[in-house]
Amino acid sequence: MTDSRIPTVRLGEDGPEVGVQGLGCMGMSFAYGPTDTEASRATLERALELGVTLYDTADAYGAGENERFLSPFFRAHRDEVVIATKFALSIPPDEPTKRIIRNDAPYIRQAVEASLERLGVDVIDLYYMHRRDVNVPIEETVGTMAELVREGKVKHLGLSEVTADELRTAQAVHPIAAVQSEWSLFSRDIEARVVPAAHELGVALVPYSPLGRGFLTGSFVQAEKDLTDDDFRRTMPRFQGENATANATLLEPIRAVAKAHDASLAQIALAWVQQRAAVHGLPIVPIPGTRKPSRVEENLAATRIVLTEDELALLEPIAGQVAGTRYPDMSFASAGRE
Ligand SMILES: NC(=O)c1ccc[n+]([C@@H]2O[C@H](COP(=O)([O-])OP(=O)(O)OC[C@H]3O[C@@H](n4cnc5c(N)ncnc54)[C@H](OP(=O)(O)O)[C@@H]3O)[C@@H](O)[C@H]2O)c1
Repeated sequence: MTDSRIPTVRLGEDGPEVGVQGLGCMGMSFAYGPTDTEASRATLERALELGVTLYDTADAYGAGENERFLSPFFRAHRDEVVIATKFALSIPPDEPTKRIIRNDAPYIRQAVEASLERLGVDVIDLYYMHRRDVNVPIEETVGTMAELVREGKVKHLGLSEVTADELRTAQAVHPIAAVQSEWSLFSRDIEARVVPAAHELGVALVPYSPLGRGFLTGSFVQAEKDLTDDDFRRTMPRFQGENATANATLLEPIRAVAKAHDASLAQIALAWVQQRAAVHGLPIVPIPGTRKPSRVEENLAATRIVLTEDELALLEPIAGQVAGTRYPDMSFASAGRE
């Protein structure tokens, strides 16, 4: 390991050891407007050089397109990467705002085979339930996921956007390596119950959208004006109209802290989530998403920033002041069921 590589952390008690920051790959094929394939490939390679080992995708990202795109990179570096993918969610191509959620055994069994095929690998390192279908008992869903581990199709299990109670029930069926949920300066609802439960159970947290889907970097304000027509963020209440204008003013304290560290807003947002998890005594691996090698370098440099108590206090009130929810229908997230 060279000096420039990031430290590592273990996911859960028996999970994989991975670099302390992972890479979210969703935007390389889906959700955030036009992508540059060559730049995305270069981003993956640069991340690996710098010690990123956890790469995050899902079958839902572009209806399998993201898994297919990542396959050559994963196959070329199979022993160096930890592949995380997910099942449960599908988005009808002709109805991009609709979400179909399935957690039943026949669905999971066909989903895992399809992901293995698209990824072109024999085993998935970390397999997440992407969203909860409340019509299927979670014991049954995790029971089926555990069978996949015994059959050698999957190494470790994860859950996304589950409540604290769902996590406890799941952990009693099979060890859960990680919960992946939204956690950032703008989205702190999981700190009330999910984070303490994860700490109690020895489960790691993988914060998704740690940059507030890009909003915390200051790169856009009003989704309907600043983003392309097909950008998924246009559907999110907090990025729309007056909400977005009000939320942009909440970046001011982040700007002030960034200036003091000669850092970017993105770096302060990432340093904050890392330090907030330490307060909760929890191992975490944030997975900021980017398609640009220079931003991977910038985001990884955030792992070396230490915020002072005064700076943390300045950033503390932000989440409580955010206008608009993170999803149009919050039953899509754990907070809507807690
Ligand atoms: N489990 C779930 O339900 C769920 C939901 C959402 C996301 N995820 C996962 O979490 C990953 C990360 O979340 P996310 O992509 O939604 O949001 P994010 O990481 O908070 O933000 C990504 C956005 O920030 C921009 N960005 C990244 N680094 C930047 C920097 N240094 N300066 C300025 N802009 C920067 C990216 O643009 P560029 O790409 O152009 O750099 C992109 O638009 C996803 O890729 C996906 O794997 C999971």
